[in-house]
Formats: sequence, structure tokens, C-alpha cells
Amino acid sequence: MRVLLTGGAGYIGSHTALVLLNHGHEVVVLDNLANSSPEALKRVEELTGKKAPLIVGDCTDEKTVEAVFEQNDIDAVIHFAGLKAVGESVEKPLDYYQNNLDATMTLCRVMPRHHCNVLIFSSSATVYGTNPQMPLREDFPTGCTNPYGWTKWISERILTDVAKADPTRSFILLRYFNPIGAHESGRIGEDPSGIPNNLMPFICQVASGKLDHLRVFGDDYPTRDGTGERDYIHVMDLAEGHMAALNYAIDRQGVEVFNLGTGTPYSVLDIVHAFENANDLKIPYEVTPRRPGDIAVCYADASKAKNLLHWEAKRDLTAMCHDAWNWQKQNPKGYNG
Ligand code: NAD
Ligand code: WQD
Repeated sequence: MRVLLTGGAGYIGSHTALVLLNHGHEVVVLDNLANSSPEALKRVEELTGKKAPLIVGDCTDEKTVEAVFEQNDIDAVIHFAGLKAVGESVEKPLDYYQNNLDATMTLCRVMPRHHCNVLIFSSSATVYGTNPQMPLREDFPTGCTNPYGWTKWISERILTDVAKADPTRSFILLRYFNPIGAHESGRIGEDPSGIPNNLMPFICQVASGKLDHLRVFGDDYPTRDGTGERDYIHVMDLAEGHMAALNYAIDRQGVEVFNLGTGTPYSVLDIVHAFENANDLKIPYEVTPRRPGDIAVCYADASKAKNLLHWEAKRDLTAMCHDAWNWQKQNPKGYNG
């Protein structure tokens, strides 16, 4: 199969490109490099021995997307392209709505002109909002707390309505939980710009000495140790989940939603200690007040993906911590080093 990965030069996209190439698929990437480097795809090629051609262009631009489909016989799309920083989305909501929604709608318009019906969409556990009922199941009520989250929620809505109007479409909405880690080679990984917002990249930069300590956002949550609990998933497991979703979507019609998580919650302090043990390092930290907008606990009911996609996460927390640090220590300046 020839698969178009929008946003395929990014963190999750580059790992998915590697998995698809290793399974004999062809990959074409459309990315505007707003938050990524072409170096990621060069390394995917180096690891797989196969080409992942990069078209530098914007997924919101219909002419660009049309040309990609004209020049490549695309069988399916995995749509990663999007802006993803929650805090930035609060400051610049229009940028987020414009980029993330236009990209989704442009694909929906162009794909049928080229008889391409299969689309896998990068959604997020953030669409469950503040729903306190754990583990989160795909049929639970949704609702968001920030513009980024709403772009995922509205994209899900758009894709659902488009599929309803055109029964030849096969759309899969994947709600990722908290992806961390890197390919075990340490050649590709997460390369955040500036000071990381997310826990694992922040810990990695503390471990490398770039940042001097971790701030643990709150230890007064109603959890085992008082710190926030999340469902961390190894990015390679997540990438393999896309393969499974693709296999499921081919020869099907309609829309299906899947959680991609492990189903196991870990606290911030669990992560700190697992990272220290996996890598024989110390992570200095201080407890600070809660981060606004954070929820206490968030983890998946992962059984639907297991039953229907025949996929489940295999890598444990030690592997996630080991691989995250392996990438960071080999690439202290990310891809630009
Ligand atoms: P990322 O920023 O590393 O990758 C996204 C890629 O999309 C980047 O390479 C960026 O340059 C590209 N891009 C953005 N807008 C574009 C546009 N208009 N046209 C072309 N390319 C564009 O992020 P990621 O962590 O790999 O996330 C991939 C997808 O998964 C995103 O949609 C994100 O919202 C979603 N997601 C991520 C997480 C997470 O924690 N990483 C969790 C849930 C969902
Ligand atoms: C995890 C835990 C923090 C940093 C975000 C987005 C979500 C999704 C995944 C895209 C929380 C704590 C963090 C730090 C800390 N992205 N923490 N100190 O907030 O669960 O999810 O990324 O869809 O939409 O909101 O992930 O890694 O930021 O935080 O104590 O310096 O670590 O409070 O409990 P989060 P995170």
C-alpha cells in the first residue's frame, strides 16, 4: 500500500513511517516542517534502507494536496499534521482552528477526487475533557477544555459527518493517550523546540543537565501519591497501532474510534523513579502548585483496540524511560545537533 503521512516528519509520524516501511508499505510525507526537521526522515531511511520521500508543503493548501495526490497513487492517508501545544492554543486559538481544521477539511475534499477513501486521524485523549470516570471508554461523553482539544473534537465531528454523507469512506479516529519514548536505536525521537511542556522530554533535559530540576505540578491530587496519573504509551507501540488501524480500515466503511493507550496509569513520581532506575540517574525535583487545566487522572480502557484491531501495547515503562534517554543522550540538541 502507498500511504500518505501528513505531518510525517514529526514525532509520531516519523516512527509510524519507519514501521510502515519495515512492513513493506510505501510512504509519502507531506509536512510544512512547522515543528519538525527533514533529518528525521533521513534517519528513517537510514534505519529501514527505504525511501520516505518528503514533500515540503502545507496540508491546508488545497492546490498542494491536490498535486500530491496527482503525482502519487495514494491508497490511504494517516493524518498527523497539526499544531499540538495546549498553552499556545489558548494564546493563539485562531491559528489552531485554522491550521488543524483546514488541514482535515482539505483532505476530505481532495481524497475522493482520487478515489482514496481510507483516512486514519490523530485524535487525542484530550477529547474526554474532565470526564472523571476511569478507565475512559470510546463511547463516553466528550468535551474539551482548550482550543487545541476542540480542534481534535471538531475534526472528529467533521470526519464523522463526512463519512455519514459518503458511505464509501473509511475513517478511523485514534485517541492517543501520552506517547513517550523513542525508537530503540536512539536515531529518531521527540525533538521539542524550546523548553518542553510535556513531562518526559522535560525529565530528559534535566537528566542531560540542560535544565536543573523538574517541577512536579501538584502533589495534592486524589491519587496514590498525590501526583497526576496518566496512561503513558511507547511511541513504537503507538506507531504499530497505526498499522493495525490501517489493516482494519481497508475494505471497511464508516467511522470507528479507538483509544490507543496501555490501560495502566502511572503518577509523575512513578515516572521519575522509573526513569532513575532504568537509566541509573538522579532526577532532582521540587513540588510546585498544580498546573492550570490539568486533571488528576487520565487512562484508557484499551480493550476495543485489542478486540477489533488485534493490537495492544507491548513495551513497559522501563523500556519507555530507557529509550527516551537513549535518544536524548545521543542527540542532546535534537536533530539540529
Ligand atoms: P509533531 O508536532 O511532532 O508532528 C506534527 C507534524 O505536523 C509536524 O511535523 C509539523 O511540522 C506538521 N504540520 C503541522 N501543521 C501542518 C500543516 N498545516 N501542513 C503540513 N504539516 C503540518 O507532533 P506529534 O507529537 O508527532 O503529533 C502528531 C499528531 O498527533 C498531531 O496531530 C497531534 O495533535 C496528535 N497527538 C499528539 C499527542 C502527543 O502527545 N504527542 C497526543 C495526542 C495527539
Ligand atoms: C503529564 C503529567 C502534569 C510537566 C498533554 C496534552 C494532551 C496530549 C498529551 C496532545 C501531568 C505532570 C508535566 C512537568 C509535571 N497531547 N507534569 N511537570 O498534560 O497529560 O497531556 O500531552 O493531544 O492533550 O494536554 O501531558 O506530559 O504535559 O503531563 O509535573 O514539567 O506530568 O501535571 O500530571 P498531559 P504532560
